[in-house]
Amino acid sequence: MTVNPFHLDGRVAIVTGGGGGLGSGICPALAAAGARVVVAGRTKEKLDRVAADVNAAGGQAIAVEVDIADGSSVAAMTERVLSELGGIDVLVNNAAVYHRKPWTEITEDDWDQVLDTNLKGYYLCARAAYPALKESGHGRVINVASITFFGGIPNLLDYVASKGGIVGFTRALAREVGPDGITVNTLSPGAFPTDAEKIHPDLENYNREILAAQSIKRRGTPEDVGNLVTFLAGDASSFITGQLIQIDGGWMMH
Ligand SMILES: NC(=O)c1ccc[n+]([C@@H]2O[C@H](COP(=O)([O-])OP(=O)(O)OC[C@H]3O[C@@H](n4cnc5c(N)ncnc54)[C@H](O)[C@@H]3O)[C@@H](O)[C@H]2O)c1
Repeated sequence: MTVNPFHLDGRVAIVTGGGGGLGSGICPALAAAGARVVVAGRTKEKLDRVAADVNAAGGQAIAVEVDIADGSSVAAMTERVLSELGGIDVLVNNAAVYHRKPWTEITEDDWDQVLDTNLKGYYLCARAAYPALKESGHGRVINVASITFFGGIPNLLDYVASKGGIVGFTRALAREVGPDGITVNTLSPGAFPTDAEKIHPDLENYNREILAAQSIKRRGTPEDVGNLVTFLAGDASSFITGQLIQIDGGWMMH
């Protein structure tokens, strides 16, 4: 029988920020395609809830606490995944932090926290998973950036800088690990109705502006992002690497 290249057949997928807004769409989508999902992040209750939902729906998931900005915490997560699930095939670097402030009000601590999480954290997770991704023979790294990098959105300077860094990180890493059969891609979400958007002061107006900017006149959902991640996680995307895919309802067109 022909193997379905969209199926993930028991592959192990780590999703950082798995308990957050987009993570709650990414984890079930990967599990529905057959992956064993590691719901990774900082807040145990949120991780447990997403893992329980996946398991209740007939999928397989475990919750693992991690601070991606801390190398020893990332090492502990990786060891636990390897000992409990036996390998790593997919890393979804999705966890991020953001503050909304004029750039002159960003403190050095804010800057460090945002860059340490959103950029160094992606690197630490990729580096820790690398031997297992290589061993898998079809390793996948999927990095979540943001539309804010393409729009140069104000009051998010540290965040936008970190998201631009992810685009470069993706391209350079794709070159280095391509010979190991590992693909590395970025997806760049537009505006999704998660906790992240609560940092905007006037949500009604914000919603109107988003729908006006998008070609598709509905708000995106975490499930939309989950479907794209699932495509990038499997064999169906094995000839795509170093790329950036906007998932924003046709807002930015590069
Ligand atoms: N929601 C949107 O509209 C939108 C738009 C563009 C980009 N994004 C990107 O999508 C990704 C997910 O965003 P979201 O909307 O789900 O945000 P969210 O805040 O709901 O979730 C992010 C998760 O990351 C976790 N996290 C933060 N720091 C961490 C750390 N040091 N270690 C481990 N986990 C940590 C948080 O606990 C949270 O659960 C982020 O990379 C974000 O920048 C989101």
